[in-house]
Amino acid sequence: MPGCGALCLGLLLHVLLGCGSAQQPGSCPALCECLEAAKTVKCVNRNLTAVPPDLPSYVRNLFITGNRLARLPAGAFPAQRLPDLRALNLSGNHLRAVEAGALAALPALRQLDLSGNPLVSLSPQVFGEGGSPLEELALRGALRDHSVLLSLAAMLQSGALRNLSRLELADNGLLLLPAGMFTALPALRQLDLSNNSLVGLRNVSFQGLGQLQSLNLSNNSLGVLRNGTLAQFRGLPALRHIGLGRNTWVCDCAIEDLVAWLKESDQVEGKEALTCAYPDKMLGKALLKINGSDLNCSMPVDLPSQLQTSYVFLGIVLALIGAIFLLVLYLNRKGIKKWMHNIRDACRDHMEGYHYRYEINADPRLTNLSSNSDV
Ligand SMILES: *[C@@H]1O[C@H](CO)[C@@H](O)[C@H](O)[C@H]1NC(C)=O
Ligand SMILES: *[C@@H]1O[C@H](CO)[C@@H](O)[C@H](O)[C@H]1NC(C)=O
Ligand SMILES: *[C@@H]1O[C@H](CO)[C@@H](O)[C@H](O)[C@H]1NC(C)=O
Ligand SMILES: *[C@@H]1O[C@H](CO)[C@@H](O)[C@H](O)[C@H]1NC(C)=O
Ligand SMILES: *[C@@H]1O[C@H](CO)[C@@H](O)[C@H](O)[C@H]1NC(C)=O
Ligand SMILES: *[C@@H]1O[C@H](CO)[C@@H](O)[C@H](O)[C@H]1NC(C)=O
Ligand SMILES: *[C@@H]1O[C@H](CO)[C@@H](O)[C@H](O)[C@H]1NC(C)=O
Ligand SMILES: *[C@@H]1O[C@H](CO)[C@@H](O)[C@H](O)[C@H]1NC(C)=O
Ligand SMILES: *[C@@H]1O[C@H](CO)[C@@H](O)[C@H](O)[C@H]1NC(C)=O
Ligand SMILES: *[C@@H]1O[C@H](CO)[C@@H](O)[C@H](O)[C@H]1NC(C)=O
Repeated sequence: MPGCGALCLGLLLHVLLGCGSAQQPGSCPALCECLEAAKTVKCVNRNLTAVPPDLPSYVRNLFITGNRLARLPAGAFPAQRLPDLRALNLSGNHLRAVEAGALAALPALRQLDLSGNPLVSLSPQVFGEGGSPLEELALRGALRDHSVLLSLAAMLQSGALRNLSRLELADNGLLLLPAGMFTALPALRQLDLSNNSLVGLRNVSFQGLGQLQSLNLSNNSLGVLRNGTLAQFRGLPALRHIGLGRNTWVCDCAIEDLVAWLKESDQVEGKEALTCAYPDKMLGKALLKINGSDLNCSMPVDLPSQLQTSYVFLGIVLALIGAIFLLVLYLNRKGIKKWMHNIRDACRDHMEGYHYRYEINADPRLTNLSSNSDV
């Protein structure tokens, strides 16, 4: 047995390395599971730190999930060896950076899932210079900072994903969206923005989303939707499922347009369940049950006029204080006169004493005496 040690080790290494890097049909990367009939390869929860270089060329569905990839460099998936790769799931891989060209020119790629990765860097050129045929992109819980959102917006706006029909951006804690983010997605049908922290959509353009059917904005921090946004929703012919539940609607004057639109529109799912979150006296009131008299909109008090009234008030107070001061002076005029006399007399006495001292100092005979007495 001891003589066999080196031989056995050599054999083992040969098996591991030799078979691992072979390109023959029927081979499968170490730590992966290959289902040739289903054209599927799964490398799931294996702590992989890089994409296996020896993926079989028949693969259409590739799952590399729950590993430790950290970054996806250019050419991570060589297109010439993966001509049929259609669905790529890279969720939960601790990916922080997806670099330019990482997914370039995969000719058959239709579905990409990058969810559950703490991305801090995402190149707008991930798909290379030309367009990608991608149809579904999932980025749930993946956009860790604002710069990643801006890169994504740049990628979408560049027109690289003109065939995209489904975009999932839920669970990202997004506050505001870049204004023109969705302007180059003519094929988009489903947009999921649920479970973020969106506070408004004021400048976000939905124009050009002629195919959009479903827009999920539920579980955000929306307080109101303005006329501009409502007009865009009205103008989208295919949009039939808008989710607005679990938001923080502020039921003051500004919500009138939203309420009017809700009452007439059949685009919103579960609109009966939408309720006010502010102000306190409206808490829990159904938006559909609000009418004009609840909102007290007749007397808008804007900030500049409030400031103006406070300045006028300050002026009046100052004038009053001045008048009272003058009145006090006037009432005490006799006392003041007497007091002035007293001061004048005191001054005069003092000045005379000074004058006397000066004369003594000026007398040469008395100078010595004076300076001696000073010491
Ligand atoms: C992956 O790494 C973790 C911790 O480093 C370990 O607990 C786990 O067993 C590893 N999984 C595999 C399949 O090696
Ligand atoms: C990707 O894999 C994750 C984890 O297995 C799964 O939850 C998710 O649904 C998959 N994504 C797609 C688009 O199938
Ligand atoms: C988008 O889809 C159309 C029709 O399916 C196809 O002709 C076109 O090549 C696709 N665009 C890209 C960039 O693959
Ligand atoms: C909502 O998003 C937060 C992150 O912003 C996440 O932690 C939470 O699990 C998500 N909730 C659901 C139900 O997906
Ligand atoms: C919107 O997302 C929520 C989860 O946040 C989900 O429960 C709901 O079904 C979705 N609505 C639509 C219309 O997709
Ligand atoms: C809504 O958001 C809160 C806070 O982000 C989260 O805890 C909750 O799970 C979310 N619910 C849904 C249905 O997404
Ligand atoms: C909206 O756009 C206007 C100008 O187009 C700009 O002044 C304003 O700051 C923007 N608001 C937000 C919340 O981005
Ligand atoms: C919003 O539009 C409606 C008509 O579509 C109009 O009556 C209303 O005055 C507008 N509101 C604002 C704040 O411009
Ligand atoms: C407003 O709603 C209240 C009930 O919430 C109702 O009694 C009242 O008549 C309504 N006023 C108008 C003008 O519709
Ligand atoms: C509107 O004004 C009336 C009295 O004018 C008051 O009783 C009511 O609470 C006010 N409603 C709101 C929502 O401020």
